[in-house]
Amino acid sequence: MAILPILCYPDPKLLKVAKPVAAVDARLQALIADMLETMYEAKGIGLAATQVDVHERIIVIDISEERDQPLVLINPELTWRSEATHLNEEGCLSVPGIYDDVVRHDAVHVQALDAKGQSYRLEADGLLAVCIQHEMDHLLGKVFVEYLSPLKRNRIKTKMQKLQREESR
Ligand code: NI
Repeated sequence: MAILPILCYPDPKLLKVAKPVAAVDARLQALIADMLETMYEAKGIGLAATQVDVHERIIVIDISEERDQPLVLINPELTWRSEATHLNEEGCLSVPGIYDDVVRHDAVHVQALDAKGQSYRLEADGLLAVCIQHEMDHLLGKVFVEYLSPLKRNRIKTKMQKLQREESR
């Protein structure tokens, strides 16, 4: 297993649209193990493959307090979204230190493959529903700051670029 580098906003690689996974094989299982390790190490509750520069439809999530309930979603598709929406404060491992409000559906149903390639259906609400919608956006090349006003987004972009310049010195 290995910790993978996480792309930082506004890296243009975060804008790539992920392709469906063709086969859940040993290569994919190794990648999933690395993604989980990377997410736990970064103390995140979700990570999309896009964020580690792999452009395939894979998400790992763990919203449990004990950090022992990993959820793997391969080729996830939303089959239902609640009409009701609400505003949540979100953050993202690719936009460190930034938290802001985004409107999401209260509940979603998702169909996906698990780490063994078995199809399953998940009914999610609360934090899990928010997390699934946030991570699925990543697979479409969308980072949560895209929902904010252009003014806020530009401010965040400048801040992130400055941070990355300082880190690379
Ligand atoms: Ni994110």
